[in-house]
Amino acid sequence: MTSLLVLHGPCLSRLGRREPAIYGTETLAELNKRLVARGAAAGFAVQCRQTNDEGTLIDWLLAGDDDGFVGVVLNAGAWAHTSLAVADAVRSIAPLPVVEVHLSNTVARDHVRHAAVVGAACRGRIEGFGVGSYVLAIDALVAMVGGRW
Ligand code: DQA
Repeated sequence: MTSLLVLHGPCLSRLGRREPAIYGTETLAELNKRLVARGAAAGFAVQCRQTNDEGTLIDWLLAGDDDGFVGVVLNAGAWAHTSLAVADAVRSIAPLPVVEVHLSNTVARDHVRHAAVVGAACRGRIEGFGVGSYVLAIDALVAMVGGRW
């Protein structure tokens, strides 16, 4: 089955309990289940991973195409605003499409979160819709990979 990779960066393991007024009450396990179901409904396998280690995230990105994934949904958490290394990893796997997501609308938050160092390397960005940002990113990749967009 055609496979999509969902990567969650630092602190997203605490989803559901971490600042729920900003990030919502759905846990990471519930979100992952939702994304697997969304992909399956479109005929895609979805594999979800989370890490608090930047090197691990980079290794997963760099192996993305070799591991057989046709697209990546990436929430790099705080690294999204600062990490040239994660941005370089995204560029290194082009043309594999990477869609950046954020639960919150980062440009409506504190100034330091306005920087989109990783987002500048991605195919596109979806943010501000809570867990819906991820769902929309899955739908976008399904459409792109399927040649509809
Ligand atoms: C986040 C936004 C980041 O600024 C923050 O550091 C996160 C979560 C989001 O999904 O809204 O860890 O990526």
